[in-house]
Amino acid sequence: MTGGDGLLRDAVAARERPLVEGLSRWVGIPSVSTDPERAGDVAASAAFLRDYALACGMTRAEVWETSGHPAVFAERLVDPRLPTVLVYGHHDVQPVDPEAEWDLAPFVPLERDGQLLGRGTADDKGHILMHLEAVRGILDARGQLPINLKLIAEGEEEDGSEHFEELVRAHRADLAADVAVVSDTGMLAEDLPALTVGLRGLAYWELGVQTAETDLHSGVYGGAVMNPLAVLSEMLAGLHDRHGRVTVRGFYDAVRELSAEERRQLGAVPFDEAGFLAPVGAAAGGEEGFSTMERRTIRPTLEICGIWGGYQGLGAKTVIPARAWAKLSSRLVPDQTAPQVTEAVGTHLRSVAPPGVRVDFRLIHDGPFVLTPTDHPAVRLAAEAVAAVWGREPVYIREGGSIPPVATLAGELGLPCVLFGVGLPEDRIHAPNERVVLAQLFRGMQAVAGMWDLYAAAGVEGLSPRPD
Ligand code: BES
Ligand code: ZN
Repeated sequence: MTGGDGLLRDAVAARERPLVEGLSRWVGIPSVSTDPERAGDVAASAAFLRDYALACGMTRAEVWETSGHPAVFAERLVDPRLPTVLVYGHHDVQPVDPEAEWDLAPFVPLERDGQLLGRGTADDKGHILMHLEAVRGILDARGQLPINLKLIAEGEEEDGSEHFEELVRAHRADLAADVAVVSDTGMLAEDLPALTVGLRGLAYWELGVQTAETDLHSGVYGGAVMNPLAVLSEMLAGLHDRHGRVTVRGFYDAVRELSAEERRQLGAVPFDEAGFLAPVGAAAGGEEGFSTMERRTIRPTLEICGIWGGYQGLGAKTVIPARAWAKLSSRLVPDQTAPQVTEAVGTHLRSVAPPGVRVDFRLIHDGPFVLTPTDHPAVRLAAEAVAAVWGREPVYIREGGSIPPVATLAGELGLPCVLFGVGLPEDRIHAPNERVVLAQLFRGMQAVAGMWDLYAAAGVEGLSPRPD
C-alpha cells in the first residue's frame, strides 16, 4: 500500500460505528418484497437508502420506480477518464417465517458478540452500507473518490428480479460502467477470504394436484377415491432415487461435467465439510459420488421447498381434500436452462400422475447460472485488495445460491462482474436469526476502499482483458 493509506484506513475505520447504527435503522424497515402487504415498507426502504447515499457523499441518488418494487440508483462521478464501477446490491429481504424461532424481533436488530442480528443484516443491506460507508470514509480522508462510482440497489431480488431487465434497459446510459461489483455473496470462513466466480441458476415452480371437484367426507368417500396428498407425496418421493439422483428424464442432459482437473481444483479449496453442516445441525444428504462442496455448487438440485393441503386446524376433521400443493425448485448448473429443465420436470410430473388426476405445474420465476472469468484484471485486482486486508490470498469459489441480475448486468450492459461479498455460511440468510459478522463488514469496507485505488491505478485500459 502507498503513503497516506494509514489515513485512509483510519478514516474508513471511523465509519464502523456509523455503519452499525445506520444498518440497525435500515433493518428496522421490513422490506419483504414477496409480501404484498409490505410494499409500503419496500418503498420506505428505498427512500431510506436514497437519503443514506446522499449523506455518504453520493452526488445523485434517486428512487427508480418499476412495475414492481422500486430500486435505488446513486452515483458520484469524478472524471470521465477514470474507471467507472457499478456496485449492485438489493434492499429487499426475505420473509421472516417461522417467526417463533427467532431469538429477537426480526426487524428490531440486536448487536451481540460482534454480530448484528436481524432480517437483511447480511442479505443484503449490510453489504450496501459497507460500500456507502467506505465512500464516506474515503471522502473524509481525501475529499474525492479515485474512480467514478455508481450504485444500483434492486428492490425485488428476493422475489425473482422480475423487472430488473426492463429497468436496466430503460436506464442503460445511467448504468454504463467499466465493471460491476456485485456484493451479495460470501466467503467460506472469516479467515478464508474468497471471491465468487460461479453461481447456480434457479427455476422455481408451484405444483398442484386435484383429485376431486370438492373436499369429501372421509367416511362416505374414503377408500373409494384417490387422495391428493397421497398422490402428491408419491410423485414427490419419486423425484430422487436411492442414490440421490434426480429421476426426471433429461434432467442432467445439459450438465457440463467438470474435468478431472477442475474437480481436483474444487477439492483443493480448504472446505470443512463437518464444520459446514454442524453449526446448522443439518443431516448430510445428496447425490452419491460427489463431495458436499460439489453437491452444493457444481451439481444441479431438485428440491421440495414447501408442501401443503388438507386440514391443518385444531383437533380432527374427517375430510379428504380435493387438492394438494407443493413448491419445488431446481438449482441449475452450466449449461442447464430454466425452460429445458421446466419442460423435463413438467413432463415427468404429468407422466407419473395417476389417470384422472389434474396436474397444474407453473414456473414462478427463474434465473440463469453465472460463471465469471478468474483471469479478468478486475477480478485479479479485487483479489489483491482482499488479500491486503485479510492477509491471505482469496480462494475462488463457486456458490450454490443464485443472483439472476448478474446475468442481466453482464448481458445487457456487457459488464465484467466481480462477485465480492463478505457473508459467511453461518449467517443464516433466509432463515431465523439471520446475522452478519461485523468484522467482516469492516474488513469489507477496507477492501473496497483498496479496490477503488487499484482500479484507479489500472485505469480504464488496464481493467479490460488483454486481447489474445
Ligand atoms: N444473496 C443471495 C444469493 C447467494 C446466497 C449467493 C448464498 C451466495 C451465497 C440472494 O439474495 C438470494 O437469496 N438469491 C435467491 C434468488 C432467487 C430468489 C431468484 C436465491 O438464491 O434463492
Ligand atoms: Zn437472499
